[in-house]
Amino acid sequence: MTTDPADLPGDDFSLDDVRREGLLPARGAESAPHDGTGRVELAFTIEDADGAPAAQRSVRVPPGVTVFDSASWNGIAIDSTCGGHGTCHKCKVRIDGPTPTSKHDVRTFTRQQLDDGWRLACLVQATRDLAVDVPPLTTRPKAATVGVGRQVILRPAVQKRYVELDEPSLADQRPDLPRLLGAIDDLAPTADLHVLRRLPTVLRAADFKVTAVIVDEDLIDVEPGDTTGQRYAIAFDLGTTTVVATLMDVGTGTPVAVASMLNKQQPFGGDVITRISATMMDPEALPRLQQAAADTLAQLATQVCREGGVDPEHVYEVAVAGNATMTALVLGIDPEPLGVAPFIMSSAQPPTVLASDLGLTLHPRARAMFFPALGAYVGGDIVAGMLATGMDRDKRTRLFIDVGTNCEIVVSNGDRILATAAPAGPAFEGGAIRCGMRAADGAIEVIRLTDTVDLTVIGEVEPKGLCGSGLVDAVAELVRVGLLDSSGRFIPDEQAPDVAPKLADRLTMIGQERVFVLHRPHPDAEPEDCVVLSQRDVRELQFAKAAISTGWTLLLEELGLEHRDVQQVLMAGSFGSYISPASAVRIGLVPKLPVLRIVSAGNVAGEGAKMALLSIRERAGADALLREVTYVELSDRTDFNDRFVDQLGFHG
Ligand code: FES
Repeated sequence: MTTDPADLPGDDFSLDDVRREGLLPARGAESAPHDGTGRVELAFTIEDADGAPAAQRSVRVPPGVTVFDSASWNGIAIDSTCGGHGTCHKCKVRIDGPTPTSKHDVRTFTRQQLDDGWRLACLVQATRDLAVDVPPLTTRPKAATVGVGRQVILRPAVQKRYVELDEPSLADQRPDLPRLLGAIDDLAPTADLHVLRRLPTVLRAADFKVTAVIVDEDLIDVEPGDTTGQRYAIAFDLGTTTVVATLMDVGTGTPVAVASMLNKQQPFGGDVITRISATMMDPEALPRLQQAAADTLAQLATQVCREGGVDPEHVYEVAVAGNATMTALVLGIDPEPLGVAPFIMSSAQPPTVLASDLGLTLHPRARAMFFPALGAYVGGDIVAGMLATGMDRDKRTRLFIDVGTNCEIVVSNGDRILATAAPAGPAFEGGAIRCGMRAADGAIEVIRLTDTVDLTVIGEVEPKGLCGSGLVDAVAELVRVGLLDSSGRFIPDEQAPDVAPKLADRLTMIGQERVFVLHRPHPDAEPEDCVVLSQRDVRELQFAKAAISTGWTLLLEELGLEHRDVQQVLMAGSFGSYISPASAVRIGLVPKLPVLRIVSAGNVAGEGAKMALLSIRERAGADALLREVTYVELSDRTDFNDRFVDQLGFHG
């Protein structure tokens, strides 16, 4: 590949433009501005110090996400000290194939390196499938990039200090503890009986060369020798459906390993309400739900430590970001008051506990901190998400939507922050949908209607059903081509050939219900054996999207804002991040804005948990959000129902 300097972006090109509009000037032959649709795959090869491949990871992201963010969301560490802002020139990666070149790349790399595919990862947007080589980290950063472009100065609660002490003598009979603490000049921790019991033995066995382990203001252990290089913590995104664990090296701010699995509470029900109901009907359910959550966390902790090659004894803290019900259940707190009006939490600020109390086998004195919650349905996961996206710091008018069974919505105008929750139901997670399924192998995740039906299927296998993003695409595309009218009804059969001649024969019946065939396993397959979108599915999606759009409409009104005032929409969560912005706009799930203002934010709850582990200042910021955010209860609004009905249709 060659790059003609004349072809490079001019001086008027700024990174802020890129971030604001979500685009880099496209120069590569195969690159094109994204239109808010589809999905791209990035195959990362992580190299060791000798440049040999050490690990490989493939990730799928919405088009337009930078290579840097794609890696960061998935726990792949790329060098950086500027937080992805294009100024440190450290995020060097090698990309296979034609890739746009920015002026920052030209300043950073030689012509040969550019031809070899070297680019700055934060300046390359993934608009096609990419193979990316990631060199090993070369910097020991003072800051780490987490969240949505957030840069965090490293100041973790977990601190270590290696000291070499003078041995006691008859001339120096200071007790062991002041001898140790006197050698640590920048911290003044307190010690409990656990440490005092270990101290005499460890000091003498290690010839008075030890490492003090401090969490917050407590000396939790004294380790023989110098262990300052082993300082780890685990960030948990404790979701109702999926739980994600990221093992963090808090000394460098880098992720070491990531693992996820379905929450083992699934057998008790798919959403928080059914799990709360389970505890109301069966007194044995609460301890069993607590145990299931603990087992999930413990299995993930074991897995990330094994994959990261880290001794679990060197993990000293965990941060848990979960909704109010998940937090109550894992702590063994009765969740019933969360499930019935007036929806009361036992505490907005859960206590810090020992990780061993959650069933985790880490350092025996490791702590577990929980994010505070704003309300029964705007929980710690959303507070973590707000932290990760900087909702309290950005001066722009921004709308944050975490789409799920319970959808949390936050609007900030740079001055005030309002939050609410909307009951969207299970449609987005494949529930109550005829061919609905989770986003697993065989799920249709992207749909385009042309003269035919173009499908993207997870795992590239025979389509089995529709996941949430596929459902949104299916409805949006059928509205676009005119086979669904603005009320959400399939148009009459006799009109279909005029509206979409090549697609009309896919409109058919199953029993009394009209359906559109998305995938026929073989030409003679009966509709019952096909993957279809039914009229009832469309209705389910309409209810879900109307609940959400009513939520943000009312919040915007409360701030005296119009839809067009929104400068950025952040689509968050494991589902929301994968909805096509174009389809979300078309069905009215988000305000009618240019798709480039709609940004996939990734797993922001997990990112917020990482931030809390890396910075006590950011952790304090999460607490401050409790005072700064106003929770708006929608269920007692007299105008809610009228607004909801207004939002049901698909209005161009
Ligand atoms: Fe600093 Fe890309 S230039 S992260």
